[in-house]
Amino acid sequence: MYAATTASPDIRPVTIADLKALKQAGRRFAMLTAYDVCAAAIADRAGVQVLLVGDSLGMVMLGHDTTLPVTLDDMVRHSAAVVRGRRRALVVADLPFLTYATPDQAVASAGRLMQEAGVQGVKLEGGAAMVPTVRKLVELGIPVMGHLGYTPQSTHQIGLKVQGKGAQDAQRLIDDALALEAAGAFAIVLELIPAALAATVTQRLTIPTIGIGAGAGCDAQVQVWHDVLGLNGHAPRHAKRFAEIGVLMQAALVAYREEVEGGTFPTDANSSRLSPELLAEALAPVG
Ligand code: KIV
Repeated sequence: MYAATTASPDIRPVTIADLKALKQAGRRFAMLTAYDVCAAAIADRAGVQVLLVGDSLGMVMLGHDTTLPVTLDDMVRHSAAVVRGRRRALVVADLPFLTYATPDQAVASAGRLMQEAGVQGVKLEGGAAMVPTVRKLVELGIPVMGHLGYTPQSTHQIGLKVQGKGAQDAQRLIDDALALEAAGAFAIVLELIPAALAATVTQRLTIPTIGIGAGAGCDAQVQVWHDVLGLNGHAPRHAKRFAEIGVLMQAALVAYREEVEGGTFPTDANSSRLSPELLAEALAPVG
């Protein structure tokens, strides 16, 4: 059911041009994180337009406290799995912490994600300071998604809190967004900023904004797989649990354990047969 999928002629993959067209048409779209083949296939079948292999995988998949320990190898491996699972959705991968400290390093890192994993774009955190890097990547044909507001890779510097609340900070964020757009970014994630600021940025840009904890005025929304499906202990305020899959999974696994312990699983239907004659023949040489 979740086997790797290959492009089929009747399935037209989502492109970056499609996302821009959606913005121009005033139509919203959804981005969702995915970290493995199974999640990618399910989200793709649900019609989610963009899959983000977020470095949030450090927390939700690997159990770290922050995104900082995530390596490029981690991202390449998980991104490749997501690409194998999706048929239609555009796949974007995060450049992890300290893998894009210079434009040349960014090219090498993004190159691995594009060539080895097959993603269609990369996301990086930061504003005006990242302009030379974004420009270089875009010149080389690497689509770049920006990320402003709360940027998790700087968590120790800025703290996990809403950004852009003061007038100066809000102005800087608008300038950063315009600078990223001018450098060639194709979309910008706005994380944990006031809704009115996100709406203003969205109106000023021709490229889509993708909000998380940034209100309904963005062109798109992004959520973390585990948050929307109820797969972790607590979801942040900006997330909505659309299902409690974790509870269902646990109930299913309790049933599994109980059936194993009680001897009711596996049954004959789950087993293969060998006729008594063949079994006797097989056992004959050993007596
Ligand atoms: O890593 C991630 O999942 C992200 C989203 C929260 C935007 O960057």
